[in-house]
Amino acid sequence: MPQTPELAESALPAQNLRLDSPVHHASTHADWWRRSVIYQVYPRSFRDTTGNGIGDLPGITRELPKIASLGVDALWLSPFFASPQRDAGYDVSDYCAVDPLFGTLGDFDDLVAEANRLGVKILVDIVPNHCSNEHLLFARALAEGPGSAAREMFVFRDGRGERGELPPNNWQSHFGGSAWTRVTEADGSPGQYYLHLFDSSQPDFNWDNPAVGDEFERILRFWLDRGAGGFRVDVAHALVKDPALPDWDGNPDGSPSPGFPFSDAPMFGRPGVHDVFRRWRGICDEYDGERVLCAEANVHPIEAMADWVRSDEMHQSFNFPFLHTGWDAPALKGIITRSLNAFDAVGAPSTWVLSNHDVARHATRFGTVAPATRPGDGLGPEDPQPDLELGLARARAATLFMLGLPGGAYLYQGEELGLGDHTELPHPLRQDPTYARTSGERLGRDGCRVPLPWSPGGPTLGFSDAGEAWIPQPATWQAMTRESQELDPDSTLWMYRNALGLRRARNLGLGDLSWLVDTGTPEVLGFANGGLLVIMNLGNAPFALPEGTVLQASSATAVDATGRLLSPDSTVWLLPA
Ligand code: GLC
Repeated sequence: MPQTPELAESALPAQNLRLDSPVHHASTHADWWRRSVIYQVYPRSFRDTTGNGIGDLPGITRELPKIASLGVDALWLSPFFASPQRDAGYDVSDYCAVDPLFGTLGDFDDLVAEANRLGVKILVDIVPNHCSNEHLLFARALAEGPGSAAREMFVFRDGRGERGELPPNNWQSHFGGSAWTRVTEADGSPGQYYLHLFDSSQPDFNWDNPAVGDEFERILRFWLDRGAGGFRVDVAHALVKDPALPDWDGNPDGSPSPGFPFSDAPMFGRPGVHDVFRRWRGICDEYDGERVLCAEANVHPIEAMADWVRSDEMHQSFNFPFLHTGWDAPALKGIITRSLNAFDAVGAPSTWVLSNHDVARHATRFGTVAPATRPGDGLGPEDPQPDLELGLARARAATLFMLGLPGGAYLYQGEELGLGDHTELPHPLRQDPTYARTSGERLGRDGCRVPLPWSPGGPTLGFSDAGEAWIPQPATWQAMTRESQELDPDSTLWMYRNALGLRRARNLGLGDLSWLVDTGTPEVLGFANGGLLVIMNLGNAPFALPEGTVLQASSATAVDATGRLLSPDSTVWLLPA
């Protein structure tokens, strides 16, 4: 039922501020995932207790109280399964085993027990589009040859050309180069090609084969039985391909380009993919505790993404269009309104996310002063370096704005410390396959995956008990550790913790949204959620606030001493007088 926003127009007398009619109404459903805050852990960079320079499950368990104390509902763990680590664990060789780098199944059980004690859920990152070429199923497919049932688990095709010397079609890998690799058959002859939308070490499963669905049902149940609160579903838009495998000259990631709308992409968003997730939803619903599914569905436009979260499919889908909207008030207003409309139409919450392990962190994006010399993956040592102060101010403002929005929010480990990327990482240290597959044309994503700084001093700032790290931290992190921020009430860490506490206390996740109109400048964006006004100043001049009580500001200098002026690059949560 539509509800009137609690904030009356008369509460805003200071200027001609008015509230527009609501674009989103408070939720009448109280399910946890409609208002959740989910914290992404990237295990290899979280906390290393074994001294091998790679974070591990016991490290997560050990530090879990610190994360739970932020006020999050769940942790999503990027893959920790057995894997040759060619794509940092998104190349899985055994979905029901923990890679020894990260620990054991017993360590996972300990983590779940500690999470239960602290009242947070553990979500597992499931990778159904592809596995590792070292998975037993793929080894069988190679050994048993063309036409075998084992080969039918994957997408094998004969090559084109007289001797099959050309790949079956022109599809490109997301990481660069052809999406097909030719195998050598058991008799030593050049053989068929297999499809890999990502690295050649990541063969795509054939989801037209019911045996693949059965295998994944087994895997889902394995983790649900062990107490997983649900799954983040990797590349959830790509599982089913057009069986004709036609050529595609559009962008390899499916993003629209002239003449190539996402809806025509033969490897993304095919109707059959929804049957897969309906089955998965049925499986999750058999378990107690509202186990959830969240889609990594890179789908365009946002209205199409809503198909992944219809009532019998997933619970949530990452809002990438929101993430990719820059420091741009009208664009942000537009995408937020569109997102709420799109997800409301199917009765699902919108989600909000600013950073993850695949993109430059938002403190770096918002501090970038000149375009990168290479597209796509953040900054390298040759690029003009970011303005760290500006980036941090804007990152804090953007986060506080995001946490006021109704729906579910995602946080990426370290953003609560205000961390940006390592933008001067020496190239020889890069490990993301993108760097090698594009011969260095693209940097890859290592810069946003750097081990966390826990305490000042020592070679890895408390990340590793042995002072080892798989990739180095930037020098500036010495002043940004969790331990030092705990002691500073104005720190980014405390801004996150306070905001999350208020968000929960005021039930903002289940709230409504009405835009503030006539702020006098398009650079100031504001909305009301419940009785709270959230105002962000993206412009260059201070903004005169309406009278009220400041509940939370994005920094110590965001609001002046009178409490009436909002600085540029700042956000405030205000309770109108
Ligand atoms: C997803 C993951 C990314 C990975 C890719 C292939 O996009 O987030 O890190 O490389 O899938 O699995």
